[in-house]
Amino acid sequence: MPTFTIDGKKIDAKDGTTVLQAALANGIFIPHYCWHPLLSISGNCRICLVEIEGRPKLEVSCNLAVAEGMVVRTNSDVVVAARKDVMEFLLINHPLDCPICDQAGECLLQDYHFKYSKRGSRFKEEKVHKAKVVDIGPNVKMDQERCILCSRCVRFCAEIAKDSELTIAQRGDSCYVTTAPGKRLENPYSLNTVDVCPVGALTSKDFRFKKRVWFLKQVPSVCPHCSNGCPIWIEYEDGVIYRWRPRSEDVIREKYIAPSQMGITNFLCDEGRLSYKEWQLASRIFEPLVSSEEGFKNIGAIEALRLVKNAIANSAETVGVISAQSSCEEADAFIKFFKSVYRTKREPKAASEDDIIIKRDKNPNANYLKSLNIENLPADVTGDVLVIVDTLPEDDMMKVVNFKWKLVVQLTHDRSLIVPGADIVLPLATFTEKEGTLVNHAGVRQSFSKVFEPKGGTRNLVEWVELLKK
Ligand code: FES
Repeated sequence: MPTFTIDGKKIDAKDGTTVLQAALANGIFIPHYCWHPLLSISGNCRICLVEIEGRPKLEVSCNLAVAEGMVVRTNSDVVVAARKDVMEFLLINHPLDCPICDQAGECLLQDYHFKYSKRGSRFKEEKVHKAKVVDIGPNVKMDQERCILCSRCVRFCAEIAKDSELTIAQRGDSCYVTTAPGKRLENPYSLNTVDVCPVGALTSKDFRFKKRVWFLKQVPSVCPHCSNGCPIWIEYEDGVIYRWRPRSEDVIREKYIAPSQMGITNFLCDEGRLSYKEWQLASRIFEPLVSSEEGFKNIGAIEALRLVKNAIANSAETVGVISAQSSCEEADAFIKFFKSVYRTKREPKAASEDDIIIKRDKNPNANYLKSLNIENLPADVTGDVLVIVDTLPEDDMMKVVNFKWKLVVQLTHDRSLIVPGADIVLPLATFTEKEGTLVNHAGVRQSFSKVFEPKGGTRNLVEWVELLKK
């Protein structure tokens, strides 16, 4: 375990730790563009230069292992001057389109310019122009002249997504990032290239030009799109969600200090990241519904609860079906209230899976229901009243639709999936309108926070169960 000195502070570092990693872990920030904690070292941007006592030249701290007795200076006059020069080189051909750039507000070129350079341009020649708004894949657009060629996106595709869809072409100031011959950026993780891009070269088609990032508020949550349970930030303004971004508390807490300065530290699949749209569908239900000959019509909550309570009170057997979309707290409340409870889960056709992040089970809490020993819905289920939480996959639907129930009650947030034969629908709060915990595929229990108050007459399952008890 080498002991070295950085800016006058004595530090013990693990063998093999780089100067940059040791500095960040000990509260000393060294600017960096091409270095990313979860990617291989490239060492091309040169902004992380530091001075090592006794050595003739400045060295890149991201690719320099700490050695016993080493004395490092991150802010000496030569380092400060070199950083200004590096910034000047990086900005020579960078377009001055910050006012219309989507990265404004979270751009490391802007941030470092104000923090380490503040030097006006001395470049009088015409800048090298490259292609703008290049459609490189279903989810990402590229602006080649904003790119500083740090190669994070290229390394992300090769090392994390394991599909070398991006490459760097040409030489010198003609260099540009592009898709490899015959390829598009269409791996299931393509939007992470936008996160790792330290500038505005790669932008999300879904998010670009929708909202200035400084207006967004963040709430920590967990992606409910599959059983992996990736930690996320939900970013919103004025009751509207604009994007989900990865959040990895472990990486931040254990290794590094300033998440806002170092950018994103974990990854999400595109499908999960874009699934935020499911929680603000136009087909959302806001009030209780009752079926009639003319279809479903609104019914007051008091009347809906009266009908459901009467049916349950007069039924010899009420069957509850809890969904693996529900939180642990919702499942606990439901199971305590209904004696006969089975479990179900969403099973989309052609559900994808890989050995990176994506799990075939598209439910965030199946593991918890399994741990409570609740059985799957049997084929021969019968009773008087059926209470379904969320919805049923086709197989489970077939088990209940042909049986003559006295009353079928469904609790859901979305009109388009109401099960055939439902008599009363109670509107559920969406995932973003409740808080609770989920147990992922590996048994890790994580909490998620409420972003918005439930809209209209919607309530979470715990509240509906409480009202049914009264
Ligand atoms: Fe060290 Fe780019 S961060 S060279």
